[in-house]
Amino acid sequence: MTRPRVVLVGSMGAGKTTVGGLLASGLGLEFLDTDHLVEASAGKPVAEIFVDDGEQHFRALERVAVADALRSHEGVLALGGGAVLDGSTRELLDGHRVVFLQVGLADAASRVGLGVSRPLLLGNVRGRIKQLLDERTPIYTSVARWTVATDGLSAAEVAEKVRLLVQDGAHE
Ligand code: S3P
Repeated sequence: MTRPRVVLVGSMGAGKTTVGGLLASGLGLEFLDTDHLVEASAGKPVAEIFVDDGEQHFRALERVAVADALRSHEGVLALGGGAVLDGSTRELLDGHRVVFLQVGLADAASRVGLGVSRPLLLGNVRGRIKQLLDERTPIYTSVARWTVATDGLSAAEVAEKVRLLVQDGAHE
């Protein structure tokens, strides 16, 4: 059966995209990020989808992108930070090698910075990240087979931790 070698979940600022890219190249696999799939299907950046079409529309595109990728992608897959809010997505994740990249408020805020590419954080980056971490951490934990704490680590160090986990059959 075709399935991703590893699926990365976690908050904005957890480093899913950077870590996923490093991990994939280290394993000789392709990397896919569901935000990029959604952008390709909509023909515009995530922030513009939120502004033009609304979050609900973004979530509908995201649900389809995640389901397609879980069915067809054999490499490393990173999910957008809010993808796990969807109940059908959580069901589809059952049985996958899901790794939760955990990040604290300080590291998440400094990694995300002030960019406009993340519409859910606009206006109050720290406050919104704190709220989202509080709301979503139990959900990330519930879908993940493994949790990797990323605070204070470089993306390469996190990628190596994930590589060891997914290569070690003893943890399956
Ligand atoms: C979101 C996370 C973003 C992107 C969108 C919404 C969220 O992805 O999907 O801005 O709800 O947490 P990243 O986690 O890759 O930044």
